[in-house]
Amino acid sequence: MDSIIVTGNGPLNGQIPIAGAKNACLALMPATLLSEEPLTLTNAPRLSDIKTMTELLRSLGAEVTSMQNGQVQAMSSHNLATTRADYEIVRKMRASNLVLGPLLARAHHAEVSLPGGCAIGARPMDIHISALEAMGAQIELRDGYLHAKAPGGLKGAVHELRFASVGATENVVMAATLAKGTTVLKNAAREPEIVDLVQCLRKMGAQIEGEGSSTITIEGVDRLHGATHPVVTDRIELGTYMLAPAICGGEVELLGGRIELVEAFCEKLDQAGIAVEETANGLKVARRNGRVSAVDVVTEPFPGFPTDLQAQMMALMCTAEGTSVLEERIFENRFMHAPELVRMGAQIDVQGGIATVTGVDKLKGAPVMATDLRASVSLILAGLAAEGETIVNRVYHLDRGYERVEEKLRNVGAKIERVSGS
Ligand code: EPZ
Repeated sequence: MDSIIVTGNGPLNGQIPIAGAKNACLALMPATLLSEEPLTLTNAPRLSDIKTMTELLRSLGAEVTSMQNGQVQAMSSHNLATTRADYEIVRKMRASNLVLGPLLARAHHAEVSLPGGCAIGARPMDIHISALEAMGAQIELRDGYLHAKAPGGLKGAVHELRFASVGATENVVMAATLAKGTTVLKNAAREPEIVDLVQCLRKMGAQIEGEGSSTITIEGVDRLHGATHPVVTDRIELGTYMLAPAICGGEVELLGGRIELVEAFCEKLDQAGIAVEETANGLKVARRNGRVSAVDVVTEPFPGFPTDLQAQMMALMCTAEGTSVLEERIFENRFMHAPELVRMGAQIDVQGGIATVTGVDKLKGAPVMATDLRASVSLILAGLAAEGETIVNRVYHLDRGYERVEEKLRNVGAKIERVSGS
């Protein structure tokens, strides 16, 4: 298993290109199951999670071609071989559950392994299930699989989600594109990845309104056609790299960054004393004065502060002036990075969903363990600002969501290298 060694090396300066969004791409790829014609994506990120989704689509009979550089390009499912999403693939990546809606809509039946929990929470699928049942699906859990069928096809329905779940919104919106009649989805999630999915579906001929708001209306159509769609910028990768100059000092331009994707996050950076400026190519981030100020954060669905940037923000707060309170409201177990940061000399007290961080002058390098995707990158950020060497183990978590992280950080002056382990 690979590890990454980071040595604190002072301020960072230069440019970092931001890739296409993992969480958009993982919803866009299953959309190919809705049509017999090819769907082409541009700007797809090169990540292990995208490889897993490719494997899943191929296991269903879809064709997925990638470019030389490994970027997914065209997909086509004119020959759907099965509607069974196997446990062996689904257990590797929860987002595999995003084939449920499209398969039900297209084939009127599907067998999708229930993903089970993960490091950050139990992550049930009850919200997906009750919404699809409202559209006439019959869903039964048997042998660890969701057995779903919709004889005669799905029907439009008016349904309110119990919580603005991103995945449930994506599954329902995709399913409703081919349903009979109109679906009105209330309390829908408003994330930019959903807006991106809807823009792609519209190019495929879907009739949808309201994306980005809490109410999305979908008029079912008989069939969808092929399309080409650019994957939206990854706002979580963007936010992560915006924190690199914030934590180490310096000035970095994030190429392709867009402020509207990270407004709530930028408000907190501003309060902490970090300057964010729009440029012709993206966003420029610089630390105004010596030390950042402590700020409080509460994670919420978009447009609130993203839970996927909470761990990285905690790394910044470890060396802030004062005490900050971070409240995690989306996942019940998303502070696994805290004890690892404490190993680096941070002062963090976790009580349930609330972490209180008392800033220290300096972190110290140490061997630490990555537990999930965002936790792993928060340890890399902390290592960039620490004295001495930090060795982050189990970085396979990182490769799920960050493309070429060492290269991107080295290009702005970081001292970072990957070592392959036993
Ligand atoms: C998406 O997960 C993202 N993943 C997550 O990013 C992100 O943290 C999350 O949205 C919230 O923004 C992808 O897009 C692939 P949810 P998703 O359904 O769709 C509960 C990363 O780091 N819930 O909005 O699974 C659930 O347990 C990942 O890139 C139910 O109770 O998130 C959680 O507590 C991590 N029942 C909350 O809602 C359900 O049926 C939010 O989940 C569905 C969800």
